Amino acid sequence: MYSPCKAVITLEVFRRTVLIREFRETDMEQVFNLACSVFDEQYRPEVFLYFHSVWPQGQLVVQSPEGRILGFIFGAMTEDGKCRVMLLSVTPMMRGLGIGGRLIREFEARATVSGSNRIMLELRYSKTRLLEFYRRMGFVVEGVLPAYYSDGEDGILMSKLIQWNI
Ligand SMILES: CC(C)(COP(=O)(O)OP(=O)(O)OC[C@H]1O[C@@H](n2cnc3c(N)ncnc32)[C@H](O)[C@@H]1OP(=O)(O)O)[C@@H](O)C(=O)NCCC(=O)NCCS
Repeated sequence: MYSPCKAVITLEVFRRTVLIREFRETDMEQVFNLACSVFDEQYRPEVFLYFHSVWPQGQLVVQSPEGRILGFIFGAMTEDGKCRVMLLSVTPMMRGLGIGGRLIREFEARATVSGSNRIMLELRYSKTRLLEFYRRMGFVVEGVLPAYYSDGEDGILMSKLIQWNI
């Protein structure tokens, strides 16, 4: 029989067993395959390796106990202390379990330690569910970016102020 209590415990156990850690070059194949299956745009492996070489602390993966990559976040840091979320993805089977939120929070922590006080990101105008996700994570809309994407779709610019929580 279905038990909501058991389901909550199972979810909590799952949350504790997945590991968020920095990306390693040996993750490349799994990260690349996930990116190819999720994004409309195609990214070359060199793109991920470039982000990693510039700011390793800002490139994170979620790993299952068996070593499977379940999601990732890739970011960039600008000279004026702003961070950008470049790519964020969770494997479709594992969505809705809080992994994306954890990735964002861990990214914020890494950005703060790296000296950043603001995180920026862009998303497609049509992605209303994603917009709500980022809003829930504390991001606010800064404006619209006309024809930001290669197919002509507008983008939405969002940002979040971050600070040490001691
Ligand atoms: C956005 C994404 C990373 C969220 O990961 P997640 O682990 O499901 O996130 P959480 O469990 O912490 O939060 C769930 C929320 O994510 C959002 N979400 C879930 N699936 C989504 C999807 N297919 N598309 C957009 N947002 C989604 C919703 O807001 C959801 O809340 P809701 O179910 O109440 O609507 C994940 O859905 C994903 O990989 N989407 C496709 C790739 C993408 O759009 N990346 C961002 C641009 S680079």
